[in-house]
Amino acid sequence: MISENLKQARAQEEKKRKEIDMAQRPCCHFSVPTGWMNDPNGFSRYQGVYHLFYQYYPYGTAWNSMHWGHAVTEDLIRWKYLPAAMAPDQAYDAEGVFSGSAVEYQGKQCLLYTGVSQVRLPDGKQAVRQTQCLAVGDGTDYEKYSGNPVISADMLPQGSSLEDFRDPKVWEEDGTYYMVVGSRHADGSGQILLYSSENLTEWKFETVIDRCRNRYGKMWECPDFFPLDDKQVLVVSPQDMQAEGLEFHNGNGTMFLAGTYDREKKEFHREWVQTVDYGLDFYAPQTVLAEDGRRIMIAWMKSWDNNMFPEGYEWNGMMTIPRELSIRDGRIYQNPVRELEAYRGEKTEHMGFNVDGECWLQGISGRMLDLTVELEPGNYELFQIRLAENDRFHSSITYRPGQRTLTFDRTYSGYCRDMAATRSLYAGDGSGKLKLRIILDKYSVEIFVNDGQSALTSLIVTPQEADGIHFLSEGEVDFSAYCWELNL
Ligand code: FRU
Repeated sequence: MISENLKQARAQEEKKRKEIDMAQRPCCHFSVPTGWMNDPNGFSRYQGVYHLFYQYYPYGTAWNSMHWGHAVTEDLIRWKYLPAAMAPDQAYDAEGVFSGSAVEYQGKQCLLYTGVSQVRLPDGKQAVRQTQCLAVGDGTDYEKYSGNPVISADMLPQGSSLEDFRDPKVWEEDGTYYMVVGSRHADGSGQILLYSSENLTEWKFETVIDRCRNRYGKMWECPDFFPLDDKQVLVVSPQDMQAEGLEFHNGNGTMFLAGTYDREKKEFHREWVQTVDYGLDFYAPQTVLAEDGRRIMIAWMKSWDNNMFPEGYEWNGMMTIPRELSIRDGRIYQNPVRELEAYRGEKTEHMGFNVDGECWLQGISGRMLDLTVELEPGNYELFQIRLAENDRFHSSITYRPGQRTLTFDRTYSGYCRDMAATRSLYAGDGSGKLKLRIILDKYSVEIFVNDGQSALTSLIVTPQEADGIHFLSEGEVDFSAYCWELNL
């Protein structure tokens, strides 16, 4: 049964999708059909394809009453829109169908999500309640379970917040389903709870997987928990972070907590903490296991505090290029999925070049590019790439080997609101050697440093005619640059 709210949402997206000019859309990034999008939800495989759901408000370009939008893809790059999957239409989710995940059970596609509602307390005050709910479907249409919510406040550890309890991520292991979900401990900061179930309707509280203890932000949103190579990774998106050096910029952050997991005792031992992405626009990542064993992560390519999108557009929200995760030398590496390579056009290549001042390279320009720049060791002060450039605009990527800092700056990218415009990270060993892969699309710059050691993702809204790229240096730099145009 499709509720009136969902029917209306589907009609809205049908109508708007026809009206919105396809030329506005990014080349190889998923974009919301219309209205507002935030977190990826239910990133999973079902019946041979990848499904992606997302936090969705189809009636306007700002966050509002949350629905789940829906899309599928075979290769993680070319997406097909499907009708919206869920709308807020029940007492327990009237205030929003918040983030969650998808898993297959008895041939059905099951969505586990957070239902948000308002309750009246005995003293007459209104309060928010968040509970975990289930919807069961066939890959297109979903029915909310009549026994919802499947996990409510009475299954929280004592002292936990009843208001901040959200974003279930579910997976199956030897016939048992497990869920990690974000919660707020009595100390005011995040904790990640583990539940288990045999049938997705009856759940049992197992343990607290990890806790913030007021160390990394406050509430921890959107957890994910999975084995990667010989480690176990917990991903969280903390709210209210405070910057420390170049780490944990203010606001909403993203973190990998990596360590080992004792499956029998259900104990996670954290060994290290790593920022997922150093850019201005990256939040709430979620992963899926590909058929070939790759762990693939996608994220919302925006941040809560910087609501940047081209003026006048009726769609506001994109996802990152999905990334493959791996572990090397005690670090989690991220690289764009290899499927992107199928969309490369002709290659332009300049090997063994030398710059002392500034230079332009024949054929290296454009706004939809897969560009790699390799710097050789040397005694230089600074190397800079300016992109999305014309006489008025540019964004820059600057490397200072002496400080080992790599900085992205979009101050001159053409946005006329005042918001964070620059971020830096530490990169390289001081020798001057560095490799950068830059995925440039109409409104975004994703930078992968040294084959995925770190990543920096940011939006730009520079007019498309600003398509120049040029290189500057202080001191002599030997480098190579090669790129492919991307087209879909
Ligand atoms: C993260 C988040 C989630 C919540 C959703 C609401 O960006 O705040 O915790 O489920 O967005 O749209």
